[in-house]
Amino acid sequence: MFLLRLKFVLKMNIMKKESNMKKITSVDLFAGVGGMRIALNKAIKKLGLIDECKLYSDLNSYCQKTYNANFPNTPLLEDIKTVKINEINKKIPDHDILLAGFPCQPFSKAGISNRNFLKRSHGFKDKDQGNLFFNILEILNKKKPKAFLLENVQHLKNYDNGNALKLILKLLRKNYYVPEPEVLDAKDFGLAQKRTRIFIVGFLNKNSEFVYPKPTYKKTKVEDFLDLYPNKEYVISDLLWKSHKKRKLRNEKAGKGFGYKMTYPSDKFTRTISSRYGKDGGECLIYRGENKNPRMLSPREAFRLQGFPEKFKIPVKKTYAYQQAGNAVPINVVEKICYKIVSYLLLDENKYINNKKAS
Ligand SMILES: C[S@@+](CC[C@H](N)C(=O)[O-])C[C@H]1O[C@@H](n2cnc3c(N)ncnc32)[C@H](O)[C@@H]1O
Repeated sequence: MFLLRLKFVLKMNIMKKESNMKKITSVDLFAGVGGMRIALNKAIKKLGLIDECKLYSDLNSYCQKTYNANFPNTPLLEDIKTVKINEINKKIPDHDILLAGFPCQPFSKAGISNRNFLKRSHGFKDKDQGNLFFNILEILNKKKPKAFLLENVQHLKNYDNGNALKLILKLLRKNYYVPEPEVLDAKDFGLAQKRTRIFIVGFLNKNSEFVYPKPTYKKTKVEDFLDLYPNKEYVISDLLWKSHKKRKLRNEKAGKGFGYKMTYPSDKFTRTISSRYGKDGGECLIYRGENKNPRMLSPREAFRLQGFPEKFKIPVKKTYAYQQAGNAVPINVVEKICYKIVSYLLLDENKYINNKKAS
């Protein structure tokens, strides 16, 4: 009886506390497995607020599987392209913050050379993925969330001599305050991975200058991100090891690229772990000792290098898990940006409340 009463009082207290807190709502577009959402959620919690993600969008069924395992019951919109302008209000719920790590392949160096090889268009001309920015723009202009956060590869800055980014900013700035985008590196924010990404934030109202977070430069060591007891299945075969070494030699002779990268547990950081890591692990082979074949990262290690928490569920086969980790955002960086975004919105709100009181 006493325990039941105690439980009831505790629950009431939590509810009371919650009703005084402010809720921040969001939609998670091109959600992948929800890296942006985890980061926003952490920032919102740190500010003592409540977080509600009203919708996520991703057309990849394996991403959906992982997303649903970690965030059950979030409404899903599969292909963002299917939402016509006149359906936006019906299909996209009202929200405060729009998150969108839109596909980067049409703008990345690797994506461009791949498309050139296949004689396919890149940038905005890529019909499948290059013009998805315009879908985001339509949603922003129709729904007018208070803020947004977009993420892409650093190379977006240089693509077409900077003209693609110029156009993106010009269009966003019609309705939003958009400070100059910032390129930030995961390795400067406590993650042992080199990963530079461009971030674009925007606000419906400008209350002051928005300042991106400063790097923490926390010391990192790859070892701290590795499994304590790595499974033997990640040790690469003699055949693969031989072909890595052969390719490296060939590349060195031709003076192009460096081939595989041996990573030592004592290294400060790894190379960028891309979505194709699972193919052969070339960008990061973990050293296991003299005359021993190196090993690949496990999917859990790949997620850890992106700042995903240990409790994050990985319900898909490793081929997909590597792709998902390689496509995700570095959570430590995005959390810091989200903290700044939400703080900026709160400042705006306080100004509004104070003005109302004064008038
Ligand atoms: C770079 S990943 C995003 C990663 C994500 N922001 C995160 O934090 O983990 C881009 C995602 O966009 C999805 N995508 C591509 N085209 C799409 C479309 N037309 N509609 C919805 N999602 C799409 C892909 O399946 C992929 O998962």
